[in-house]
Amino acid sequence: MEKNRFGSSLNKQEELLNFLKSDLPEVFSEGKVDCKKLKQTLGEEVDDGNERYGLSWAGKSNCFKVIQEQTTATLKLDKNESKNFNETQNLFIEGDNLEVLKVLQRSYYGKVKMIYIDPPYNTGNDFIYNDNFRKSKKEELEGVGDLDENGNLTRVDGLSINRKDSNGHFHSDWLNMIYPRLFLARNILRQDGVIFVSIDDNEVHNLRMIMNEIFGEENFIAQIEWQKRYTRSNNTDGFTSMIEHILVYARSSQFKPNLMERNKEADARYSNPDNDLRGVWKAMPFFSQATPAQRPNLCYKIVNPNTGESIVPKRKAWRSEKSVFEKYTSNNVVWWGKDGKAKYPSIKRFLSEAREGMTPINFWDYKFAGSTDTANFEIKAIFEEKIFDTPKPTLLIKRMLELSTNSDEDDIILDFFAGSGTTAHAVMMQNMLDEGNRKWICVQIPELCDENSEAYKAGYKTIAEIGKERIRRAGDKIEKDNKNKIDLILKFGKENLKIQKGY
Ligand SMILES: C[S@@+](CC[C@H](N)C(=O)[O-])C[C@H]1O[C@@H](n2cnc3c(N)ncnc32)[C@H](O)[C@@H]1O
Repeated sequence: MEKNRFGSSLNKQEELLNFLKSDLPEVFSEGKVDCKKLKQTLGEEVDDGNERYGLSWAGKSNCFKVIQEQTTATLKLDKNESKNFNETQNLFIEGDNLEVLKVLQRSYYGKVKMIYIDPPYNTGNDFIYNDNFRKSKKEELEGVGDLDENGNLTRVDGLSINRKDSNGHFHSDWLNMIYPRLFLARNILRQDGVIFVSIDDNEVHNLRMIMNEIFGEENFIAQIEWQKRYTRSNNTDGFTSMIEHILVYARSSQFKPNLMERNKEADARYSNPDNDLRGVWKAMPFFSQATPAQRPNLCYKIVNPNTGESIVPKRKAWRSEKSVFEKYTSNNVVWWGKDGKAKYPSIKRFLSEAREGMTPINFWDYKFAGSTDTANFEIKAIFEEKIFDTPKPTLLIKRMLELSTNSDEDDIILDFFAGSGTTAHAVMMQNMLDEGNRKWICVQIPELCDENSEAYKAGYKTIAEIGKERIRRAGDKIEKDNKNKIDLILKFGKENLKIQKGY
């Protein structure tokens, strides 16, 4: 990767300028880009009309300034909090993820295989980090307890509640927070990498628009509906929300999702009613989706050899041409039902010929991917109390890992809204299950726990402390449960990095 004179990676703006200077020197005038000349060079490709499709909001143009601002933050290793310091490559970074993402651009540009994030959803009760906060460190220290421009209490961790009623820029504030972070996250994805973003109904429509803008509509892979709960709540006004969304975008067309492991239900659809020596099979009706008018070449006559009845398709054309059907007949894979008298033929598809895995689907039920209850249960199993309010189940993240990472590659997985550290936990478990060598990086701001919360009472002052402790305990448990895999377990160690600001 190209470096600038400060030794850090070039930002997008510098990269583009260097590219233009070397490839299109004619569009420069006295060292600056001459937009008129650039337009002339690009000709038809430039749309300078006033109306265009896209999402705009108050403060969007400032997002690009935020992205381009160089950070003075550096990472300081905290050896005391680390475990297996010399062996591990896993990182827990404590700090605001905007600055961390800028720091990570230096050494992780294009290196991360999978990103999962579960940001604040903007429900009206969420704490949103104020990006102006770090600029006024001094005032902040003096002004804790003051009200900010929205009337919210200034907190020492830089977070304030984004309320629907007290704030005319409710959606804009959230978009201004998330846009620069997603923009920077894209740079650190590998070309065959992928990002999964959890979100609920409050911002899914806006998030999809900005992800189309940042990642490109052509890199949209799926909007997964995850069934987070399985019972309705009769205390709710209106609809009980049973699902959350997960938006999936690839970095480029080089990303190909892995097949999901075949499950018992899929295999149970195969049987062997005629004791075929080739093994279990399932019947696929020999119809296509096309009408006879659309595919007249697929509308020939077929005779049932058992009844002598001849059949010509009326509503749906046959699945393949006559020569293919004749091949099926000579291979003895045409099925006319158990009594041989079926009204139309089916083709036997043997389990041995089925693909090794199943294509992923965009509905993930709680049995397949866990539920909010599962996640709360996991937290209680580790801490005894429910000391974190919004965890995700490890099974949900396991499904993402199965889709997008491989055990035989040193894939790096990043979560920059890490919360209680579920992603790190899920990666460690997956490595244990398939002897993989994946590495994780978690980023979590030291968000203060409320003094009345279970977490605070249990001795955790910040969410970062909860995340670190969960990872320590989960790592120890995996180690204990797998004594025979001690060489592998060493890699489950954790390093904890703290951001130290350069002022
Ligand atoms: C919904 S929670 C994530 C929960 C996580 N998926 C889990 O299973 O535990 C979002 C987390 O992002 C953190 N967060 C919010 N703004 C942040 C920022 N600017 N930098 C780093 N973390 C931030 C919050 O403190 C919170 O813990």
